[in-house]
Amino acid sequence: MERKFKKIGVLTSGGDAPGMNNAVRAVTRAAISNGVEVVGIQGGYYGLIHEKMIPLDARAVSGILNRGGTFLYSDRCLEFKTEEGMQKAVDTCHKYGLDGIVAIGGDGTFRGATDLSNRGIPTIGVPGSIDNDITATDDSIGFDTAMNTVVDAIDRLRDTCESHARCNVVEVMGRNCGDIAIRTAIACGAVGVALLECPFDEPALMEKIRRLKAGGKRSFIVVIAEGYPAEHPEFKSEEFAKRIQAETDVETKFVRLAHIVRGGSPTLNDRMLATEMGYAAVEQLLAGKSDLVICKKENEIVEYNINYALILDRMYKGKLKDGDLDHFSNSQIKEMREICEEKRIAYRKLYKMMDDISC
Ligand code: F6P
Repeated sequence: MERKFKKIGVLTSGGDAPGMNNAVRAVTRAAISNGVEVVGIQGGYYGLIHEKMIPLDARAVSGILNRGGTFLYSDRCLEFKTEEGMQKAVDTCHKYGLDGIVAIGGDGTFRGATDLSNRGIPTIGVPGSIDNDITATDDSIGFDTAMNTVVDAIDRLRDTCESHARCNVVEVMGRNCGDIAIRTAIACGAVGVALLECPFDEPALMEKIRRLKAGGKRSFIVVIAEGYPAEHPEFKSEEFAKRIQAETDVETKFVRLAHIVRGGSPTLNDRMLATEMGYAAVEQLLAGKSDLVICKKENEIVEYNINYALILDRMYKGKLKDGDLDHFSNSQIKEMREICEEKRIAYRKLYKMMDDISC
């Protein structure tokens, strides 16, 4: 039986990302246009447990298109992972008459969305994360803005490196995903990039810098993806910068851009993506769907079952657990393997291109 939606909730959870506000705005206005009331849940799942609710109307989401962060606030809520916390969240949904939820965030947010769906609260996930680490979607909200912020920072570093004949090692966020690192390295003409997805050959990079310096090159940029040192604890970005200086005789500075990469006004691409995804989430919810994540694949908005998307992620990251694939058909598993392989091939191509054109 089709459910009649009267009121839905929207929340942002996990690391904030530029464009989340645009997604909340799209969700709110799409729902209102369909005669459905909207409640903003402040602070992600924490707000759902502790009843931090604000009514949203069309005007409440005015003037937020160009604002970074999330005006609904965010949180990484450990309490929601407990049975008690989850039950409180479900009780809140019943108490406030929420017929469904749109949850904007990363993989942790989607696990929460599945938990709610399984407990009878239809929930749709929207990928909001600068890391772009959700394998099912080509782009997540905030990724484009984050890359543009990194490009702007590296361009500035390049100016001063060129003046002083220096190298700058730049560590960029992205958790265990090298998407920000590889693309900004290409866009900024880095001589090297260290990330988890492709093998990093440090001696070859040193040799390259020495050769380029001998040929007259003055400035050098090397990008490190946050996940690389995290998974290779013996590799410290600061120490790596010192090694470059010692082994190439190029004075080398180090900078970790950290949370600078998370802030700022969303780019046009992120505003569009967030609006399309938020709108699609409401369409799906009102059509009686649940437990889906809205994705962008080859420029089309598509939906995947959340569990499918989460297991696909684990497969891509080589983190499958026993039994993970038990509930999927052979053709689904084949499709997942193909998606992972395509992504790996695309990475290797980008990496080789970066190396070849930074000569
Ligand atoms: O997921 C977004 C992200 O910014 C990652 O790139 C980073 O590893 C992490 O969040 C930092 O989290 P926090 O803001 O909680 O320190």
